[in-house]
Amino acid sequence: MKTVSGFSKLTKKEKIAWLAEQLSGDGAHLVGELSHYWHQDEKVQKRFDEFSENTLTNFDLPFGIAPNFLVNGKVYSVPMVIEESSVVAAASLGAKFWLERGGFKAQVLSTHKIGQVHFKWQGEKGKLQKFFDRQKENLLKDLAPLSINMEKRGGGILGLELLDLTHKIENYYQLKLTAETCDAMGANFINSLLEELARVFRNKVFVEESFTASERDAQIIMCILSNFTPECVVECSVECPIEELGVFSGDIGPQEFAEKFATAVRIAEVDPYRAVTHNKGIMNGIDAVVLATGNDFRAIEACAHAYAARDGEYRSLTSVTLQNDTFKFTLKIPLAVGTVGGLTSLHPLAKTSLAILGKPSAMELMQIIAATGLAQNFSAVKSLVTTGIQKGHMKLHLLNIMNQLGATPDQIEKGKDYFSDKIVSFSAVRNFLSE
Ligand code: MEV
Repeated sequence: MKTVSGFSKLTKKEKIAWLAEQLSGDGAHLVGELSHYWHQDEKVQKRFDEFSENTLTNFDLPFGIAPNFLVNGKVYSVPMVIEESSVVAAASLGAKFWLERGGFKAQVLSTHKIGQVHFKWQGEKGKLQKFFDRQKENLLKDLAPLSINMEKRGGGILGLELLDLTHKIENYYQLKLTAETCDAMGANFINSLLEELARVFRNKVFVEESFTASERDAQIIMCILSNFTPECVVECSVECPIEELGVFSGDIGPQEFAEKFATAVRIAEVDPYRAVTHNKGIMNGIDAVVLATGNDFRAIEACAHAYAARDGEYRSLTSVTLQNDTFKFTLKIPLAVGTVGGLTSLHPLAKTSLAILGKPSAMELMQIIAATGLAQNFSAVKSLVTTGIQKGHMKLHLLNIMNQLGATPDQIEKGKDYFSDKIVSFSAVRNFLSE
């Protein structure tokens, strides 16, 4: 592939033509394929194109719903965008199982978010702290024009602290800002506040009379919100008497199931190798709803895993108790999501997802997403400790392979019968179809 300059200035068609030229043999096919996935409605396509840069086309992913989610007494059909087969099926099964046993109980524990101005300052520490204490109210006043609208919505700045981190990096300090961003994810709000805070802070340092000439220089390194939000946390649980768990495949009774399930979760609490896979299963559900509602799944992922390792060892995000003959399964996870602003209102299907959920507040969405993660984890661990995971996976895997090989609906039906007691592999399916 050749290098190129000024690529971003080309039109979409020119970009595709350039790429096609590079791929010589496959080029012609590429032009047709990429334009095939353009949206029919030019206005919608323009909007998609503008979400990112150097856009050539759209990349489709399945959008489905997992119905029957009873969360805090209200039933939801949860929109999910995910490419992995059996995730939506597992969420739906988990939702249905708990629908018959009281549903999910979720509560938001807190919704505070953090932003940081990282700076270096050389001088007598005590003087900087005194200066900060004296100027704190003025700094907050300077930020007021930027936070006034958020305050009207019930949020705004909750705290501002000076942190001395000189024991970690020479002359390194932070201004730590805590904010409530209501129904917005809040990244833009917090980042704008931080950049203004850094500017006025630096100016005040520059003219501070108690400082020496060298102390009047605060070097701002960067201003950015933190995607680690351990104070923006939701807890979601399901529970029922152990005997009401029922009987599982392989004739596993409720007590045996509960104990095996609890041990499986315990293993994910003590063994990071298992914990990562266990949490990945939770994130299968979480990411799918986060994506469907136009939220930032990278931020959610980064934060969830940091939270899972908050005591120094990476652990399960879910836990189980078996007390007083009751099975209780709980997920605690930070989820900094929004239901206004950003892609939530720009992406037509993100808007639709929120409409399907009844236009929830950010707190309600946190609860729904946590319930989906918990349902997902319940179904995955239930399969693992009973039938094993492959049985369910293989049905969808078989369908994917059949479709890839161009099987007719009749062949698919016959294939389902044939493979009901056989191992599914690409070559086995190909042989079946050719015979
Ligand atoms: C697969 O995407 C997710 C699981 O591996 C989760 C788990 O093992 O708990 C099934």
